[in-house]
Amino acid sequence: MSDRDLVMRWVRSWAHVRGLRVEMVGDWPLVHVNGRSRDTEIVCVDPGRAAFERLAQHTAHDPREMLTVFSQDLSPYVEPPLPEGLRVDRDDELFMTTTLTPSAGPAPDGLVARWTISGARATYSLDDGTSVAAEGTAGVLATDAVFDMVETSPRHRRRGLGRHVMSALTRWSVDQGATTGMLAASADGARLYTSLGWDSGLAMWSLMGLDDD
Ligand SMILES: CC(C)(COP(=O)(O)OP(=O)(O)OC[C@H]1O[C@@H](n2cnc3c(N)ncnc32)[C@H](O)[C@@H]1OP(=O)(O)O)[C@@H](O)C(=O)NCCC(=O)NCCS
Repeated sequence: MSDRDLVMRWVRSWAHVRGLRVEMVGDWPLVHVNGRSRDTEIVCVDPGRAAFERLAQHTAHDPREMLTVFSQDLSPYVEPPLPEGLRVDRDDELFMTTTLTPSAGPAPDGLVARWTISGARATYSLDDGTSVAAEGTAGVLATDAVFDMVETSPRHRRRGLGRHVMSALTRWSVDQGATTGMLAASADGARLYTSLGWDSGLAMWSLMGLDDD
């Protein structure tokens, strides 16, 4: 399967489980994310410099739009000059995938596990009695599971909670019929997922339109 096909599967699953509208800009999807940081995001996979510059014009000067390039080699895109009207938002994320293998034990001692399931989406959280110690979300479309919002509160890190959350979400996803896991990983997240055997397929580079005010 090509990188493009895999990323487009991720976009389809992400949009499906969140109920997001998708339209096309040229050959590439624009997702109506309606999030805190952005309204829309264009996703493209190694489009070539000329197509990248056309997409950049779409996002330029729109501070609520993100343009994310996925590639094995980002050098043709990151090479200056940065297209006018854009700023770099993130340059440390990785698109990662895995073949899902279920394994999950009980919640760690002293923490209470909670599931919130809504349609094709499940959030698993661990509560320490006063606040959420760790949580994460997974959503399934056919045989693909997308994982996101995995987070361990700073004072609970490096005690295996992230690993436990991923195991619980993996078991749930496999029970729903998923066989492939996909996610966009932060630098911290990539260390966790690599330790769990996930493959880091593609680098990601996200740009935002500049706020001209
Ligand atoms: C990523 C994150 C969820 C990891 O949670 P965690 O509960 O600390 O992870 P775990 O303790 O289960 O770590 C399991 C393994 O992952 C690896 N790992 C996790 N965090 C790591 C780090 N900061 N540096 C190096 N390795 C790390 C290690 O191999 C670790 O095993 P070890 O502690 O026995 O060496 C946490 O750092 C976090 O919330 N970061 C901020 C939010 C974020 O970036 N979330 C990911 C979004 S994709």
